[in-house]
Amino acid sequence: MKKLASLLGVLALSLLLSAVAAFGLAPAAQAKEAKIGFAFSMTGGAAAYGATQKNGAQLALDEINAKAGADGIKLVALFDDDASTPQQGINVFNKFINADKVSVIMGPTLSNTAQVADRIAQQAGVPVLAISNTAQGITEIGDFIFRDSLTEAVVIPNTINTVKAKLGIKKVALLYGNDDAFTKAGYEAFKNALNQAGIQIMSEQTFAKGDRDFSPQLTQIKGMNPDAIVCSALVEEASGIVAQARQLGIAASVPIIGGNGFNSPALIKNAGQAAEGVIVGAAWNAASPLPLNKKFVEDYTKRYGVAPDQFAAQAHAGVYILNEAIKKAGDPNNRKAIRDAMTQVKDLDTVLGPFFFTPGRDAGSQPVVQVVKNGKFAVLGN
Ligand code: ALA
Repeated sequence: MKKLASLLGVLALSLLLSAVAAFGLAPAAQAKEAKIGFAFSMTGGAAAYGATQKNGAQLALDEINAKAGADGIKLVALFDDDASTPQQGINVFNKFINADKVSVIMGPTLSNTAQVADRIAQQAGVPVLAISNTAQGITEIGDFIFRDSLTEAVVIPNTINTVKAKLGIKKVALLYGNDDAFTKAGYEAFKNALNQAGIQIMSEQTFAKGDRDFSPQLTQIKGMNPDAIVCSALVEEASGIVAQARQLGIAASVPIIGGNGFNSPALIKNAGQAAEGVIVGAAWNAASPLPLNKKFVEDYTKRYGVAPDQFAAQAHAGVYILNEAIKKAGDPNNRKAIRDAMTQVKDLDTVLGPFFFTPGRDAGSQPVVQVVKNGKFAVLGN
């Protein structure tokens, strides 16, 4: 009798297993998984941004997965280093798409890398969420490319108008990197915004990635006596420019105004006292009293021992945006359904504020202007 019961038991189990196989049914208690590839600059010139992007993303992943439960969708993260170069960005994207078979990609850190790597994802039909690319021409690559980072074209006019209203600046010197998609986009945006605001551009000077000595440009600028120096640079070069401007005797009363590349605590750390008074256009307000933002700042600071920056905030928000799209899509492996669901994300509570994408798949949030005060970014105005 006992033998018959156990035989029947085995039969029932094998019938259930073949039903699962035949109908592709997953056992109810097994969580579904969504694979996300994170391509961040962990080495090279943009490593300061990549480090905080990874921290912000990891915090959000842990928060979401802790709540996912048995029948939720678990987010499985694959992190890789795009090395701040287009070629390595391409390698990482190819690996994520073809070997790891991720459902969606976040990154890469630099626009200069995105402008080539994103084309591969677009062609393969893999959705990409950029979280720090601010040059023009990124989401235009195609309908699988989205971003939660505000572009230079949106942030910089607000920066220039705020600075004009608050500081009464009339004439500036313009300095920019002429070999990078982002620094060139920042230059164009500054030039247009300065012209629109009726501020005179006294001179335009350039530098290249990896330059260490900016004294020829800064000596000329000093001789012109501008009201401010306007600069489009990534953090490594920005730090050198800020430090050397003050070393060469350009007075602290002549502010240095930067774009997104300046928006990192690494600038303050590298340039030290010289960074005081630097003005930066930003996409995230550290002092925002929104409850989710306050909790983010607290949790991040507790976990990593330093306050988050805008790059961490955009990564954290980005994971919530992807989670929302993956949930809406229903199937964590359906890249096209996730893409379509991304366009439907609306009023999502994030550390950047209520989030939505514009019809062009760019971020629909508001810029802010920050100033470095006592070694920290403080709000200058909106
Ligand atoms: N905002 C910078 C870029 O787009 C990091 O490259």
